[in-house]
Amino acid sequence: MASKQSKLEHDDSGRNSASSDGPRFREAGSSDQPAIREILREANLSYHSAKESGQSPENSSSSARTAGGTHNYVCERDGKITGVLQWRNIREESEVLGIAVRPEVRGRGNATFIMSEFVNLMREQGIQQIFLEVRESNLGAIALYRKVGFAISGRRANYYQNPDESALLLSLKIQQQYQIPSLPY
Ligand SMILES: CC(C)(COP(=O)(O)OP(=O)(O)OC[C@H]1O[C@@H](n2cnc3c(N)ncnc32)[C@H](O)[C@@H]1OP(=O)(O)O)[C@@H](O)C(=O)NCCC(=O)NCCS
Repeated sequence: MASKQSKLEHDDSGRNSASSDGPRFREAGSSDQPAIREILREANLSYHSAKESGQSPENSSSSARTAGGTHNYVCERDGKITGVLQWRNIREESEVLGIAVRPEVRGRGNATFIMSEFVNLMREQGIQQIFLEVRESNLGAIALYRKVGFAISGRRANYYQNPDESALLLSLKIQQQYQIPSLPY
């Protein structure tokens, strides 16, 4: 892969910085749609046809809140959208539909930041498991997902078209914070 440049900053707590001059992970608004479309077009993501029924991830509303609705979140840095994450919730689980980073800023930790913030957000929302599918030739994405804790849980033969390819299934069980059991008195 391309040589690494400086990674995104982390604060002393180890959590990714979200200060005004650092990267921000936030829900996309309507003014972000042109940048999102451009990033998704450049990334040429593969969506399985079953997922496109009803609502195309690219065209879906960023404010969709209903179960199964697509959420668009972005990474913003210095006022510029550097990456996009799309997912949907299915009861207590979430499915990542796609992640893409602008080609000129890849290899700088943007996707790691996005995925880490996403996992934190899902934990805060009480989501217990995240799953996703990825082309088995997409070694960069597979390495990214494994880096943030996903494990390979299965394979779907001939899942994608154009070109035909199998999918690897990956999942991440989210450890919810330990809660003190209520005492019997
Ligand atoms: C996959 C993608 C999102 C990674 O974004 P990124 O910001 O460059 O990723 P990061 O810099 O955070 O790298 C995180 C890890 O991913 C892996 N990785 C990313 N790009 C890689 C590449 N080209 N080759 C090998 N590993 C790679 C590495 O393990 C890296 O960790 P490291 O820095 O400790 O080695 C980006 O390449 C992209 O947008 N690709 C096109 C769209 C796509 O394929 N999306 C995934 C399927 S939905």
